[in-house]
Amino acid sequence: MLMKSMTLTNGAAFLLGAALAPATFAQVGTMPTGPEPYEPHHDYYSFAETGRVVTKHLALDLSVDFERRRLEGSATLHMRRLDPALTRVVLDTRDLSILDAHVSLPGAGQQWRATFHLGNRHPLLGRPLVVEFPAGFDPEGDFELTVSYASSPDASALQWLPPSLTAGGEHPLMFSQSQAIHARSWVPLQDSPAARITYEATLRTPDDMRAVMSADNDPDTPRDGEYHFEMPQPIPSYLLAIAAGDLHFEALGEDTGVYTEPALLEASAWEFAGTQDMLDMAEKRFGPYDWGRYDLLILPPAFPYGGMENPRLSFITSSVLAGDRSLVSLIAHELAHSWSGNLVTNRTWRDIWLNEGTTSYLEARLMEALYGQDRADEERVLSWLGLKADLERVPTHFQALAPAKVLPEDGESPQQGMQYPKGQFFLEHMERQFGRNRFDPFMQGYFKAFSWQSITTEDFLEYLDENLLSAYPGIFSRAQAEAWLYGPGIPDDFEPPVSKTLEAATRAARGFASDNADLAEWDTGSWSPQARVQFIEALPADITAGQLATADAHFGFSDSGNVAITRAWFTRVAQSRFEAAYPALKAHLARYGRMYLVVPVYRALAENGVDAALARDLFAQNRGSYHPITRGAVARAIGTQ
Ligand code: BES
Ligand code: ZN
Repeated sequence: MLMKSMTLTNGAAFLLGAALAPATFAQVGTMPTGPEPYEPHHDYYSFAETGRVVTKHLALDLSVDFERRRLEGSATLHMRRLDPALTRVVLDTRDLSILDAHVSLPGAGQQWRATFHLGNRHPLLGRPLVVEFPAGFDPEGDFELTVSYASSPDASALQWLPPSLTAGGEHPLMFSQSQAIHARSWVPLQDSPAARITYEATLRTPDDMRAVMSADNDPDTPRDGEYHFEMPQPIPSYLLAIAAGDLHFEALGEDTGVYTEPALLEASAWEFAGTQDMLDMAEKRFGPYDWGRYDLLILPPAFPYGGMENPRLSFITSSVLAGDRSLVSLIAHELAHSWSGNLVTNRTWRDIWLNEGTTSYLEARLMEALYGQDRADEERVLSWLGLKADLERVPTHFQALAPAKVLPEDGESPQQGMQYPKGQFFLEHMERQFGRNRFDPFMQGYFKAFSWQSITTEDFLEYLDENLLSAYPGIFSRAQAEAWLYGPGIPDDFEPPVSKTLEAATRAARGFASDNADLAEWDTGSWSPQARVQFIEALPADITAGQLATADAHFGFSDSGNVAITRAWFTRVAQSRFEAAYPALKAHLARYGRMYLVVPVYRALAENGVDAALARDLFAQNRGSYHPITRGAVARAIGTQ
């Protein structure tokens, strides 16, 4: 997959992990962050005590205030007390103003005002909100906790775009990005993937705006500024999502459609016209789609990710509107999360490979089924090359799919970029050993067995052993599986993917660089965008500015409408200080806020020995239009934080 592999090539930490600074902190707030020694099923990224009390349902009632850039209202948590000795509830928050807290028993009219306090701020985790049970409040099982609150204009999950940063230019637009631990910046809650909740919400927006959520969006609902949502399937908190703006809908198929601003509606519907077929194919391969509709929300270029698998409504960056459908593996990826991630979820962030590695595997399966083996193999090879580059710089203890320990001290999601291809190739390796006729039913059985659950790598391994390894003995041993899961690098018996077209691009790049061979000798007109990316990536470090000018004139990289190409290109331009392309490079950094597209370019400028000050100037010019998560990632890449 193109974008994923590129992520990996330049170290995915900037894109997907460590969205907030790896913390060096002495003080860890008032609450312990977890048991010692390390327990892989404990979530060290949350203050919530989900073993003592657990949320079952969330009811939100919020106003979307564009002027003050905040959400304001209340969250009612329907909770179940598991520990009879419990006298308080601890929730996660980040930059929330808490106005008051009430508790009540289900169905009873009486509300009890509860005292509360916010603990010390942890640099990564935010502040624990501790709500005490009032004297005499002693629920046997279920109870409700209502917190009135407002989010901060700087909420780490939320971006508030002024009209000038939208496609239409007339209305503001806001959206959330909750994964991994940012839901707590817009809802006080148990922000851990270990706890699954159903939810409902009432949202109020200005009259001419439309709000959508990771829930049952009704395309026909009147645009009147008040919207109701239900999410009847239990989801982890990182899948809570909201967006509001001048959003309109167009159907793509029976159960699929696209929401976006009017200016992008036609292009989006064209680019993603294959979504219904993808959904149908995914059901055929992976088992029933249990979520109802599958829609896309196409967001402005400021969206910090390529895509986010918010259930029923994937959030997608408009930067993949290439005009030729060449970047739709992103949709395959986010759709596949409906099984790997949303149906079966990592219990803690240490096990994110269960979400992302498995999804990358399914994504490649979908791409192969829908677009053929050659295209899927091109994307596999880019992933493989990226993985190899990552393995050069990632410390060995983080090269395991399931590292022995992952703690907030290591950052928000340390080294997780590696987990995408390594997890994918682990599953592909087993698929090859057992054959698809055995492996496919195994995967379907796995999704079924753990549906609506949050699991650890150890749960996966037990299931794998019982239902595949031991079921067909003598093919692939538990020790071999453990080497992938707990060991560094890639086991020697793995056969790397190959792609003839990418090999040709690599040869062309080398010949061009070393012998100044004429590019007309290769049939570059027929090359896929993936092959063009590989050409750029395969150019040696000592390529001259003159040669880059020739390549640019031949391929038109600087003016390409394909962001996978411009990302690779401008990174190379910065590494090699090809100044003729700097104006286009600057336009690229001003236009996109997607981390994957901008962070490697900033880093290359900062590290080329000359342009560190330019990188800082460009960041100062552009940071106002970047999402808080992107701001943090760029600042770290250029060393201003
Ligand atoms: N769930 C991820 C995004 C994510 C991961 C956000 C971890 C925060 C923490 C999403 O599915 C994803 O992987 N997006 C990739 C695209 C993918 C095709 C590699 C992206 O945004 O580039
Ligand atoms: Zn993903």
